[in-house]
Order: sequence, then structure tokens, then C-alpha cells
Amino acid sequence: MHHNADGALTGNAPVPGRLLNARQMNTPDKESSTAPEQQRIVVLDFGSQYTQLIARRVREGHVYSEILPYNVDASRVLSDGVKGIILSGGPANLSSAGVLLPDQRILDAPVPMLGICYGMQLLGQHFGGTVSRASRREYGSARLSILKEDHLFKGMREGVQGETTVWMSHGDRVESLGPELITIARTANSPNAAIRHTSRPVFGVQFHPEVSHTTEGRNILRNFVIGICNCRPNWTPDSFIEHEIARCRELIGSGKVVCATSGGVDSTVVAVLLSRAIGENLVAIFVDNGLLREGEVNQVTSMLREELGINVIAVTASERFLSSLRGVSDPQEKRKIIGNLFIEVFEETASSLEDCEYLAQGTLYPDVIESVPVRGPSALIKGHHNVWGLPERMKLKLIEPLRELFKDEVSKNLGIPDRILMRQPFPGPGLAVRVIGPIAPPQLGVLREADTIVRDEIERAGLSNDLWQWFAVLLPVKSVGVMGDERTYENAVAIRVVKSLDAMTADWAKLPYDVLGTISSRIINEVDGVNRVVYDISTKPPSTIEWE
Ligand code: XMP
Repeated sequence: MHHNADGALTGNAPVPGRLLNARQMNTPDKESSTAPEQQRIVVLDFGSQYTQLIARRVREGHVYSEILPYNVDASRVLSDGVKGIILSGGPANLSSAGVLLPDQRILDAPVPMLGICYGMQLLGQHFGGTVSRASRREYGSARLSILKEDHLFKGMREGVQGETTVWMSHGDRVESLGPELITIARTANSPNAAIRHTSRPVFGVQFHPEVSHTTEGRNILRNFVIGICNCRPNWTPDSFIEHEIARCRELIGSGKVVCATSGGVDSTVVAVLLSRAIGENLVAIFVDNGLLREGEVNQVTSMLREELGINVIAVTASERFLSSLRGVSDPQEKRKIIGNLFIEVFEETASSLEDCEYLAQGTLYPDVIESVPVRGPSALIKGHHNVWGLPERMKLKLIEPLRELFKDEVSKNLGIPDRILMRQPFPGPGLAVRVIGPIAPPQLGVLREADTIVRDEIERAGLSNDLWQWFAVLLPVKSVGVMGDERTYENAVAIRVVKSLDAMTADWAKLPYDVLGTISSRIINEVDGVNRVVYDISTKPPSTIEWE
């Protein structure tokens, strides 16, 4: 429950009921956030690690797409301008007890459907075919031979010879087709690698068109979305954002909205969007919990206030946090204390503001879909972090204006400077999880100094663009050293520098030795209380990025 790379909110419990997301903020007779006439493609998520990728590919083709859990009620899917449905892959298989089935009314609806991998097997079975375990699992590249010309394969550059490269990853396969289905492509291992219904716009592909290894994948998805579903490619995140700003303005009227900010991307984006909508009536609250990096309070507040024009209140609560953390060494206990106190402080500050009716939260699309109840890789990777437990007695209504957008779709379009977007993630519990063991001000001071040196040297060497995170950790280990003529017995500092794309996996960075050397000698020479520096060369998994 702790993976909020953005920062301030470290939560555990799900959100209480009063949640208004972009869709629900509408009264029925008003335009919806995606606008009622907004065409959309629904991606039903059966837990594939690629589900998000499918939705992104569709959006990159300028058609709005939305991910819904596989077991959602048909009415959610078959409403509001739905033009097509893509059924994702997933770890389940039809032959096992753990089979995942969607609402059958969806499969019977006269809407174009494309099943991918598991999704194809579902459609295959639904329309009279049989599915069984393939004698060999097929994983990796395969050559797809196109057997029948079809809309799905139109305009393929590589398909001229009737062959193209696709990416496979499956154990089951559609074995036989009933009278309603025909094969339109095969691979050496899958006689039915792509199928279609004889009279309905229903298609299935055993391979993954959404991954880049499928050479014509974008084309195939585009053919489905534009050619078969007849979507107009006119959606842009830009228009969505403008629409969202206008609607927030209308909804909120002259009241005030509070939001918690950490200086991380998610919360900054939500604050910028709302301040565009309601100006000074958006009050951003930044809590100094005493666990921040050197200079962070000033940097974050002046960035928000001066560069982005946001009305921000900084609340100093370091004493309160540090005294509650005294003597606590268990990492989860630290997180719990910090998370709860944060809510307390935030709540107090919010309730001291007049006319404040709403709380804005920076939930972005991946956070929302990660709470999909599928026990697949896409659901298991992260605990839900941004959505924190709000006490019921809190009278604020929750708004999440970005709930339906991916982070990069929003941030690029709001003109937030790269310098802010490129900030390294910083955990909500801050330095508390980087001072190993109990926390006290002297240790925090030592860590801050060491961490500043790491940040300086990485910046100076121009390495930060290639890195995910770079920081120091204070270890509760003392070792012997010698400085001048004196024997020393002091703490060790670990340097953690990792490369990663999404924090799910990470590799330690192969930093140049001279950069490591400078960091080490500067820390040992400049930071009192440290006489040894070690470099952490563990990957995630099995280690994690943070030490606690
Ligand atoms: P780990 O250590 O689990 O971290 O590999 C993955 C990413 O999440 C950040 N992180 C946190 N973020 N609250 C947060 O908001 C936390 O408690 C927390 N713990 C880890 C970490 O910095 C990395 O980017």
C-alpha cells in the first residue's frame, strides 16, 4: 500500500462513497466529461499486463478509450457512445476453474468486438468454437500468414506477401471453430491465429497487436477502431482537458477547493488544472512533515506559487510528525503514523478555510485501473496508493478531475515545465523510510547533507535524465575508520541509484566510477557522522528501490 511515487498521500483504505469522478460529476442532462456524443472504445480488462497499452494505442489514434473491469455490468459498457469493445488478454484460462467471464449481454450486443488472446478465446467459445491447452506454449515472435483479406488487415505495409511478424504469449488456443466463425490468419503453432464471425463484426486475434513487436499492430488496431467500429479520429487529451476545466468551473462555482500537494507530478498536475478552472479558489496545501529533503519546502512552494501561479499554503508540522515517530523503527508502522497524521493535519487546515466544499485528488488513470478486481499481473503489481482513507466525518466532497487520463496525456498539455515533470519520485513518508531504524533530528540532518551531495553530483554529471531515482540512505551500522590520526567509529551511508520505467522493476545504475568516487569522498569529508559509503547494487525484484 505504499507505492505513491508522487508523494504526499500514503494511504491504505479505499475511498468512502462520496466520490465524484469526471463522469459522475454530471447531472444527467448536462454534457458528460467525455461528452455524450463522445465516441468511445471500451477495453474490458481480464488482467493482462498489456491492458493499459491497448487503451493507449487507441487514444494515440485519437479515439477515446476506457478500461473497465471484465465483470462490469453490461449497462456500463453498452451506453454513452460505445462504438466497439476490445477484450484484453489475461492470465486466466477457459479450461480452469478460475475462468473469468464477462456479463453475457455484452457478448451478445451488436457492437463490434475484438478479442485479444484470452479475449479471443472467450469470443471463440461464445460463438461455438472450442478452446484447449496448446501442446506447446507459444511465446515471442511468430510469422502470421494471412489467409483471407479482411478489414482487419487493410493497408498493412509488411503484409503484402500475406505475412507479418506478431507477438504471441499464450498457453490455450482456439482449437476448432463452429459454423459461425472462420479463420483469417494462422501461424505455425496456431492454426486459428486470427478469426472472425461470418456475419457479425466480431474478431479475435491470438497475438498481441498492442505490443510494439507486432509490426503491424497499430495498423490492425486502427483498422478495428476506425474501419470496423467507424470511430472518428478526433479525440485529443487537449480537448478533454479544456472540457474538464470548464466543467470543474461550473460544478464548483464560487466555492473553494483544497488539494494536497507534494511537488510531485500527479498532485502538481491536478493543482494546475484546477487553478486554471477556479484561480485563487483552489487552495493547495503543502505539509512540511519534517521528513523532506534539504530546501524542499521552499522549492516546492515557490515553484507552485511563482512558476505555476497556484494559491498554496505551507503548513509546518514537523514537530508533530517527529514526536509521533520517536522510537518507531518498523517501516510499516512509520508509514501508518505518517499517513494518519498527514490526514489529520490536512483536515484541520482544510476545515479552517471558509466555503470549502471540495477536496481534489490527483488520481490518474493507472491508479484507477489498478484497482480493477482481476487477479492478474496488471492488478497485482501495485497497491493502491493515491486513494487514501478519508475519515467519514470529513464533510468535503471528493473530485478527481484527471481520473480518466494518463499522466503524460495531461502533463504535456498543461504546459508544466519539464524540470517539474522530470523530478525524481519521492516517497510520501519521505526521509523516514531512508533513515533505517528509529528517526531523530540528528540522523535526518546527516541524511539530508549526504542526499544533497548525491543530488548535486548526479546533476553536475548530467546523468539525471537517464535515471529514475538517486538518493542516500542512512544505515544504522557503525564501522571503524581513520581520519587524520584519529580512529573514527561512525555511520555508513548507502547510495541508491536506479534506472526504471515505472518503478515496478528497477536496475541499479552503472554510474561512472569517478562520479561514485566523488560522491563518496565528498560525503565522507563533508558530512559529520559518516565514515563509510557503499553503493547498492541490487535489482528490483527481488530487492525494492527504497530500503524500507
Ligand atoms: P519500492 O521501494 O517499493 O518503491 O521499490 C517503488 C516506488 O515507490 C516509491 N515509494 C513510495 N511512495 N509512499 C509513496 O508515496 C511510500 O510509502 C513509498 N514507498 C516507496 C519509491 O520511492 C519508488 O519510486
